[in-house]
Amino acid sequence: MDAFECIASKLDIREFSGGKVPDDIVVRVLEAARSTGSGSNTQHWHFILVRSTGDLSRLAESCPYGPWVGEADFAVIVLTASRWSFHLFDAGRVVQDMQLAAWNQGVSSCLTTVFTEGSVRIEFNIPMEFSLSAVVGFGYPRRRVLGRKRRKSLSEIVSLERYGNPFIPG
Ligand SMILES: Cc1cc2nc3c(=O)[nH]c(=O)nc-3n(C[C@H](O)[C@H](O)[C@H](O)COP(=O)(O)O)c2cc1C
Repeated sequence: MDAFECIASKLDIREFSGGKVPDDIVVRVLEAARSTGSGSNTQHWHFILVRSTGDLSRLAESCPYGPWVGEADFAVIVLTASRWSFHLFDAGRVVQDMQLAAWNQGVSSCLTTVFTEGSVRIEFNIPMEFSLSAVVGFGYPRRRVLGRKRRKSLSEIVSLERYGNPFIPG
């Protein structure tokens, strides 16, 4: 898949089949994270790979808007160092890169940024220097993915030269 097609087709999927994602694809997703650029190349992040069914269930219990984490084949807890003002910007980039790398291999995913933070910190031994920035659940989709994205049109979100000047895609 070329890069644009990957971006344009990717959906956030919350229903997983239970199929096992091979280790080499899991590593590829983590390599995508490692390859992502960060502010001043600080690479201030850390990733916790969660694969065991018990830990996935425990993680899901702490994600009120991410019960689907419990059905994922694996999850990645994305930690970023909050002392950097841009750390959440980097978190967003790294999550998207992991999701796109997975999608390119037929593996779907979704993320959540809402947690019962205290319990996740204790359960997964997360030091206070890190912000608990995202949890991403990955797995093969339960159904064939046919969805269309619901997105605003370019003319609604783009201005030409000055804010408010209409942009008409050519
Ligand atoms: C910062 C951020 C936080 C999100 N949090 C959640 C969440 O807590 N639970 C969830 O199910 N989806 C979450 N999502 C997924 C969004 O709902 C999804 O990206 C959006 O609906 C577009 O989905 P689509 O690309 O499949 O059309 C989040 C996405 C982003 C970018």
